Amino acid sequence: MTKQIQSVRGMHDILPEQSSPWWRAERVAREALVSYGYREIRAPIVERTELFARSIGEVTDIVEKEMYTFEDRSGDSLTLRPEATAGCVRAGIEHGLFHNQQQRMWYSGPMFRHERPQKGRYRQFYQFGAEAFGIATPDIDAEMILMTHRIWRTLGLDNVELEINTLGTSEARAAYRGRLVEYLSDHEGRLDEESKRRLQSNPLRVLDSKNADMREVIAAAPSLLDHLDSDSQDHFEQLKSRLDDASIRYRINTRLVRGLDYYTRTVFEWITDDLGAQNAICGGGRYDDLVTQLGGRPTPAIGFSAGLERLLALMALKQGSDESGYADVYLVMVSGAAERCGQQLAEDLRHQHPRLRLVVNCGGGSFKSQLRRADKSGARLALILGEDEIAANTVTIKQLRTDESQLTIRQSELAAHLTAA
Ligand code: HAM
Repeated sequence: MTKQIQSVRGMHDILPEQSSPWWRAERVAREALVSYGYREIRAPIVERTELFARSIGEVTDIVEKEMYTFEDRSGDSLTLRPEATAGCVRAGIEHGLFHNQQQRMWYSGPMFRHERPQKGRYRQFYQFGAEAFGIATPDIDAEMILMTHRIWRTLGLDNVELEINTLGTSEARAAYRGRLVEYLSDHEGRLDEESKRRLQSNPLRVLDSKNADMREVIAAAPSLLDHLDSDSQDHFEQLKSRLDDASIRYRINTRLVRGLDYYTRTVFEWITDDLGAQNAICGGGRYDDLVTQLGGRPTPAIGFSAGLERLLALMALKQGSDESGYADVYLVMVSGAAERCGQQLAEDLRHQHPRLRLVVNCGGGSFKSQLRRADKSGARLALILGEDEIAANTVTIKQLRTDESQLTIRQSELAAHLTAA
């Protein structure tokens, strides 16, 4: 037998029977984002490698070890996007979207990271997210959080918690970094190899370490909050008051530094304890320096991205699996003449009921096997066209989910009947 080809490790098929909750989550997110005035941006999935190295940071897990990077046939180094923020910034600069104007944009689609696959962590995964440009005030920070909160609420997810922190300006962080390196160097013997390496290159990430042996050293480290510039402090206070006004509960996590280097000031994550180790469903923050770092004019910015697989896993815990089926009505036809007449009848019905999910039996089959397919489709009604019905211009309606007896009506009355049903 010819060898079968399997999907790539960490990359999964979303099969037809699994896709309806995806639609639901994506629809809820899209409608919420649009209702706040965000417009969709569709940037390419492939970008120049340099874009990610310069934005996410050379000394981050993503850039050091997780990118799908390849040389194309022209010898350019390209990378499958590990996230979408850098692409939004590149596109905004390239198309002049940031000059003296505010921009609110959203996106959704696949991202790629060569991480070790496990439950909730994949090599191709889907995110939706939003980015706002040109607004420096904390009202937009609050808007990001209000928007995400609204999406969780609409999806019925309640066991999610908000963590917030502020990283200050890059100047304040540089001063803090000096203090932190001093402290960590004094305790170097208690750091693991990765943290020793990061001590000089990216010491803030040491605080993010999940290594339980380092918990004490990390807990006693100097806190960035004590080294904040007063503007950032004030910005953070204002954000907190806005969250309080909106009755959104949050926890200040001074160790929250996030895995990407572009952040300044506000950072946040929505986490849950329902999903095990991969507990972050959404992360984001402000990145006021990134547009200039990538060659644009100074433009304050903030955004978030949410992981769809993790949201869907939470939705499944809440609602159980979705077994509603893919059809409302299934058309069964029991002769060649009925098949031709049936397809036309179905087109007329579709014209009058554009949202009706009407499946026309294709590929023939006995009456019994067609009814079996109708049952499997989840349809509530089977429409039956046999020789008698064709001769009399009628159609028989069979209830598939109740014991109600079947009913034969004129074909011309069918559309109205379905409206009433
Ligand atoms: P991130 O924290 O790297 O941020 O990713 C955001 C979310 O994507 C995570 O909270 C998680 O739900 C999901 N996620 C990340 N990696 C994986 C994976 N390997 N498998 C499954 N889900 C995953 C960003 O991507 C930033 N672009 C967020 C942002 C937007 N900051 C500002 N604007």
